[in-house]
Amino acid sequence: MTEETTPLIELRDVKVHFPIKSGLLFDRTVGYVYAVDGVSLSIRKGETYGLVGESGCGKSTLGRGLLRLVEPTDGEIVFDGTDVRALKGEAMRQARRRMQMIFQDPLSSLDPRQSVESLLVEGLKAHGLAGDKAETNRRLRETLEAVGLPASALSKYPHEFSGGQRQRIGIARALVLNPDLIVADEPVSALDVSIQAQVLNLLEDLQNERGLTYLIIAHDLAVVRHIADTVGVMYLGGLVEEASSDDLYREPMHPYTRALMSAVPVPDPVVEDRRERILLAGDLPSPTNPPSGCRFHTRCPWAQPTRCADERPELRDVVGGHRVACHFAEEIAAGRIRPHEVEVELVRPTDGTGPVDPPGELIPTP
Ligand SMILES: Nc1ncnc2c1ncn2[C@@H]1O[C@H](COP(=O)(O)OP(=O)(O)OP(=O)(O)O)[C@@H](O)[C@H]1O
Ligand code: SF4
Ligand SMILES: [Mg+2]
Repeated sequence: MTEETTPLIELRDVKVHFPIKSGLLFDRTVGYVYAVDGVSLSIRKGETYGLVGESGCGKSTLGRGLLRLVEPTDGEIVFDGTDVRALKGEAMRQARRRMQMIFQDPLSSLDPRQSVESLLVEGLKAHGLAGDKAETNRRLRETLEAVGLPASALSKYPHEFSGGQRQRIGIARALVLNPDLIVADEPVSALDVSIQAQVLNLLEDLQNERGLTYLIIAHDLAVVRHIADTVGVMYLGGLVEEASSDDLYREPMHPYTRALMSAVPVPDPVVEDRRERILLAGDLPSPTNPPSGCRFHTRCPWAQPTRCADERPELRDVVGGHRVACHFAEEIAAGRIRPHEVEVELVRPTDGTGPVDPPGELIPTP
């Protein structure tokens, strides 16, 4: 493999299942939340991978599992040639420094009682990097400058900043450790639209200057459109589609992605009037009891008997690196299979736990 094609991080069939416990005296496991259920993806050095999907589909759990902030149930995570799941103690600590996380809400992820200086030094100390005072001070100032904050910010507290500035502090806290990979979980969701662009631009500039690799998680397709090289779409714990950002937005191939895209308004009124709209029937099924076969079959307007309900589709290369987890991707793209009405199936938990999907109605599709 050449330098350009070597992934910095590679996930192979990663699973994160949370046990559901019941019983007062004995902790009995009565089921599992299949939050992440077999995800394989890789991110090359210096690239940005955008991970999108509805609330609850497992995006944050995947990001946290990758950093082992939650312990994956199964699968391989290879970071810069090393199997992360096999690392222990000091070796894991070293790897953690190189893989940092930025959170959605900087106010709740930053301790309000700590000054910015103390917040930044904390990470340095944890990794044994807070040596000489003058050197540490230089590092803090340089990091603040890199995120567009004045050195005077060091003595202030999180509540003294605006939302956008607080997210810059969150970025500084990751950056001060000189990481290679940053997992940013909804980094701009809590910010005003005008501020979102500034923070995304900052992330992009930092990537160009420092060769950073990003996994950026968002529920909004528009957020990752410009910043991501590759976009992956998640549904109920699995990746259903992955392509270069351009390809995915030009021609979404998975029925779920097509439905997500069709919900995004287009500024041009003529295009807006003519564009395809796909209404999804029913709610997202519960990850405690995911549907059989293709997890999307209970809501898919293109679902075919009986393969869709029986066989889980692999994420496969359909055309030029555009990966789609759908048995009928080619037929749908060519218009050989037409969308039909979806009658919502009730997915009942087999063990009496978890919610039952509300009854849906027939939703006509175009
Ligand atoms: N520690 C946990 N224990 C049990 N279940 C969990 C835990 N963390 C997450 N889950 C469940 O796993 C599923 C995936 O959650 P996750 O937070 O990864 O989704 P998400 O895609 O990040 O959603 P959002 O867009 O709302 O942030 C959800 O059903 C959630 O309730
Ligand atoms: S495999 Fe079947 S149910 Fe799943 S997305 Fe494709 S057509 Fe729809
Ligand atoms: Mg989340």
